[in-house]
Amino acid sequence: MEKLMSISHFLLFSLITLSSFPQHHHAAASSEYSRPPPRPLVFTSHSRSESDSQQVHISLVGKDHMRVSWITSNKHTESKVEYGKSPGNYEASATGEHTSYHYFFYRSGEIHHVVIGPLEPSTTYYYRCGGSGPEFSFRTPPSTFPIEFVVVGDLGQTEWTASTLSHVGAKDYDVFLLPGDLSYADTQQPLWDSFGRLVEPYASRRPWMVTEGNHEIETFPIIYPHGFKAYNSRWLMPYEQSGSKSNLYYSFEVAGAHILMLGSYADFDADSDQYKWLEADLASIDRTKTPWLIALLHAPWYNSNDAHKGEGESMRKAMEELLYKARVDAVFAGHVHAYERFTRVFDNTADPCGPVYVTIGDGGNREGLALSFEKTKPSISVYREPSFGHGRLRVFNETHAHWSWHRNNESDTFVADEVWLQSMYSSDSCNKATQRSIQRDEL
Ligand SMILES: *[C@@H]1O[C@H](CO)[C@@H](O)[C@H](O)[C@H]1NC(C)=O
Ligand SMILES: *[C@@H]1O[C@H](CO)[C@@H](O)[C@H](O)[C@H]1NC(C)=O
Ligand SMILES: [Fe+2]
Repeated sequence: MEKLMSISHFLLFSLITLSSFPQHHHAAASSEYSRPPPRPLVFTSHSRSESDSQQVHISLVGKDHMRVSWITSNKHTESKVEYGKSPGNYEASATGEHTSYHYFFYRSGEIHHVVIGPLEPSTTYYYRCGGSGPEFSFRTPPSTFPIEFVVVGDLGQTEWTASTLSHVGAKDYDVFLLPGDLSYADTQQPLWDSFGRLVEPYASRRPWMVTEGNHEIETFPIIYPHGFKAYNSRWLMPYEQSGSKSNLYYSFEVAGAHILMLGSYADFDADSDQYKWLEADLASIDRTKTPWLIALLHAPWYNSNDAHKGEGESMRKAMEELLYKARVDAVFAGHVHAYERFTRVFDNTADPCGPVYVTIGDGGNREGLALSFEKTKPSISVYREPSFGHGRLRVFNETHAHWSWHRNNESDTFVADEVWLQSMYSSDSCNKATQRSIQRDEL
């Protein structure tokens, strides 16, 4: 029954969206490479039994715990995870909670969330959800450098998404970071399930840390005024652990990096909860323990693409100075379906103590690429290209990290942009500037 519903929803959805794919003219970057068009949606159906876990994904909770999230069609499955360090041998187990939600005529399966641990760093654990069904495994991140992050925005669930994910999976990494726009379900709830199944082979093996994009909102006047129903139920992040009151923004620490997951679609003005939380969170950071400070958000603050111009501007005006004074190393955004890297910037001006800004909304969603950039490249924009792909931030030690952008190239990837980053923490001149600005504030 659920399957039939899913298929009919899916067909309806395809009819609506196939006709609305954007037309592609005027490629901006002059290059011999011909821009690939959007590719069709991949609908991933449910092939396990009603009580078996599906859509399994994991996320970091605190220093040494992991949240395992999954869905069962059957309401009576226990929210229990059994785990251990060798296959089939589960020496530990933990129980948790489950929830479900309605969206018009759709009722979700049981959504289970179980936190397991303490876990050892850089260790592979084998696990099973709900007491039966398939075994999964994940590797915990390292406790010290080096650590490698994969960064992909605006993922969606098309053949391009599948291509991006296969490139991501082909080379090892520790933690997956997603700056918003996950499933592109756009209120068609069965597409959240399909997305969960599509990403399971990746999201059940490495922690996926996500923040929301506009496609997560799914408000409906009067009936669902607050939105984020599916997103908050399915993609529960460790916001409470960082003192946040909302799943829409939080922070976490892993191997010497403090990561801010900001909310472009939560209030951000100076009197908002998010702003106050961010101020307190930044004040709590000890750069001798987490020398790297990274932020993710959805709508970019810097963008020279013609798509979504100015949409991140009010958030930039509200929060940029906080991030600048805190000496954030890099800010990753999505939303614009293209790749663009800026130099270090503060207030629209190149500034050696500002963060590097990167737009990486090119995971492969159904809307296709944002092909048109402003004719004249702003001087602060270093590299821009409308192609699907993914990014990798490899943090070698407390001073050096390497960023690379991997363009999808059929069955292979191609590193089209790369740069070495030196941490703000290790920059004498920027740290002195911090001292100065602190003293000024105190005077
Ligand atoms: C940090 O890593 C970079 C890149 O591998 C290397 O060149 C540098 O010497 C390292 N610094 C320290 C202090 O280990
Ligand atoms: C694709 O890969 C081939 C072989 O490595 C390379 O020569 C070509 O430049 C790549 N094209 C793009 C667009 O990345
Ligand atoms: Fe978006």
